[in-house]
Amino acid sequence: MSVKVLIATDKPFAAEAVTGIREVVEQAGFELVLLEKYTEKKQLLDAVANVDAAIIRSDIFDKEVLDAARDLKIVVRAGAGYDNIDLDAATANGICVMNTPGQNANAVAELALGMAVYAVRNFYNGTSGSELGGKKIGIHAYGNVGRNVARIAKGFNMEVYAYDPFFPAEALEKEGVKAVGSAEELYSACQFVSLHIPATAETKNSINYSLLSKMPKKAVLINTARKEVIDEAEMVKFMEERTDFKYVTDIMPSNHAEMTEKFAGRYFSTPKKMGAQTAEANINAGIAAAKQIVDFIKNGNEKFRVNK
Ligand code: 3PG
Repeated sequence: MSVKVLIATDKPFAAEAVTGIREVVEQAGFELVLLEKYTEKKQLLDAVANVDAAIIRSDIFDKEVLDAARDLKIVVRAGAGYDNIDLDAATANGICVMNTPGQNANAVAELALGMAVYAVRNFYNGTSGSELGGKKIGIHAYGNVGRNVARIAKGFNMEVYAYDPFFPAEALEKEGVKAVGSAEELYSACQFVSLHIPATAETKNSINYSLLSKMPKKAVLINTARKEVIDEAEMVKFMEERTDFKYVTDIMPSNHAEMTEKFAGRYFSTPKKMGAQTAEANINAGIAAAKQIVDFIKNGNEKFRVNK
């Protein structure tokens, strides 16, 4: 029986990416199974029941899904954040979890700067706005996306700052980025802050009233990371007080209706997370995921494993 590789994507890859994934899978002698735009969890539960490997995006692989996936040996999140996968349940079921770090980073970074321009040009409403050039941008977590934001921001002639407790200050300075020692320092120094922290127990609700209050006049917060890192109630309180502040996000908050009603002209959310929604990012991340699956099944390579 051939090895079955499932692509389970609620938000589908570009067609070219699926073609590329199919080529990698079939060249290895494996079989591709496709589940796109599913609307019921039941469809996912049925699809995972007899596959050996899965490629997913932000699709939820909780304990119920992982328990239903009786033959599953590996699931690869074609992207960076794997907060959508229950790692403990995967480990308990002997399933290897991987991500594809860096593969969609340029796409997300381009959108972050695009959203910054959109904010300072008053959401393209025809009125006089301002420019990014000469301003300070703070990168909150300097991973693959953060580094790409720094590269592009330098092209806008911005002064780039970063806070990342896991990234050595000397290495940041070598890249022409000013390292600061705390989030408070970053938010105090920069008119623009671009968020790139993962959603973890420690980061959840960490972008709160107290931190936002440090930001200078006409501040803009750009979120292409996760909605969970924002304390939504405190964001409302802050925006009510600070009428100079703008929030642009690629991850629709739970209180989107309230934000839209209260902060017209200062708040924008994409309708669906689209940072990594480019043909290039889909091809890079999707094909990397397929290659990692083939290498894991044929050679046992666990290089990008993220669970124990
Ligand atoms: C990621 O973690 O890689 C990004 O948030 C992109 O997510 P997506 O593949 O669901 O668009």
